[in-house]
Amino acid sequence: MSPERSAAEPFDAIEVIRAKRDRQALSGEQIDWVVDAYTRGVVADEQMSALAMAILLNGMSREEIARWTAAMIASGERMDFSALRTPDGGPRPTADKHSTGGVGDKITLPLAPLVAVYGVAVPQLSGRGLGHTGGTLDKLESIPGWQADLSNTAMMSQLDSLGAVICAAGTGLAPADKKLYALRDVTGTVEAIALIASSIMSKKIAEGTGTLVLDVKCGSGAFMKQESEARELARTMVDLGRDAGVNTSALLTEMNTPLGLTAGNAIEVAESVEVLDGGGPADVVHLTVELARTMLAGAGVTGVDPAEALADGRAMDVWRRMISAQGGDPDAPMPTARESHVVTAPNSGVLTRLDAMAVGLAAWRLGAGRTRQGAPVQAGAGVRMHAKPGDTVQAGEPLLTLLTDTPEQFDRALAALDNGVDIAAAGTDEAEAFTARPLIIDRID
Ligand code: URA
Repeated sequence: MSPERSAAEPFDAIEVIRAKRDRQALSGEQIDWVVDAYTRGVVADEQMSALAMAILLNGMSREEIARWTAAMIASGERMDFSALRTPDGGPRPTADKHSTGGVGDKITLPLAPLVAVYGVAVPQLSGRGLGHTGGTLDKLESIPGWQADLSNTAMMSQLDSLGAVICAAGTGLAPADKKLYALRDVTGTVEAIALIASSIMSKKIAEGTGTLVLDVKCGSGAFMKQESEARELARTMVDLGRDAGVNTSALLTEMNTPLGLTAGNAIEVAESVEVLDGGGPADVVHLTVELARTMLAGAGVTGVDPAEALADGRAMDVWRRMISAQGGDPDAPMPTARESHVVTAPNSGVLTRLDAMAVGLAAWRLGAGRTRQGAPVQAGAGVRMHAKPGDTVQAGEPLLTLLTDTPEQFDRALAALDNGVDIAAAGTDEAEAFTARPLIIDRID
């Protein structure tokens, strides 16, 4: 026993850290204690950082991850949607989607109203972006007047009346994760499968959705660069969800290339509105429809084609009502950046690579993302793409438009894009051999 242990505490942090450092499995009691004691401030940040690094390096077993997730859930409140009813008085199914984060990933915006069209309630508790991946709330906050913070009562009432709500996750859900995520973010310990899976699933299980569809991104712009890692993350999360009674499945999706033709805030909202209007980029439409199908099937709604509700305006009607209900004006002109800079194609040929990480980092440096928690983002900043891999481009044609209110950032954004684009001359082996990886790589049930 270490001399530092307080008489009132059953363990001390040092022995838990040493155990994981030495590749031992932590006991259920050790895990319950360390998560709770960290939330109470008894385990210090530097001790939890050391433990997070030991977990990143040595991993956790399935039992340890499940216990860690349960301990994080127990640190806060659990929501309950069982009072929601269908028009004929039966229990109303709930379905939620969670993406592990990518560049240009605006799918939640068209998806939530689309699924709600079919009578399934969609409680989409979302976050703000940190680093190169955007945040759903940052995007929506570019709509004049729109408010992210709702009380639990207001959230339930909107779910009941409109069937969908996208709002900030309250501070009561898994507070242990909030504290730990902020710490991992500054200690190089985000990219641990055990910690990502327990972080995401503690919030989703505490939220109380009946069905959960995970969009696990894989590629340069995702946390998981390798397909094998993304698969393991997806499998871990699906198992955690199912063991907790949530009907969970995952799509493994491509993130070497950004989704759609925009990465930023207001420009991504505008692209989402195009999708809700029956148009928009094919990849965004395809993923939105496939995720909707999977959520609806999980919630017991089959025999419908969600693409129809995008084409005929039903999803748009729900979107407009959702935005208005949270103080936003769905008809207000979106904010635009004060300055723009066009990047042109250096040579003609087939665009064979548009790197998601490079575009995400450029958008972030232009002001679409934040460098520290709580910092403001620029609504109009970001990157507009004029071509996607597989397209033929001519030398001198616009490839990207960089947007910002702070033009002094153009140089750093351009530096991020260095080596982010490959164009193969027509007729070369590289151009002929080009095939894009499918957007949906696999499904994991
Ligand atoms: N998103 C989360 O909520 N947690 C993680 O650890 C990573 C992504």
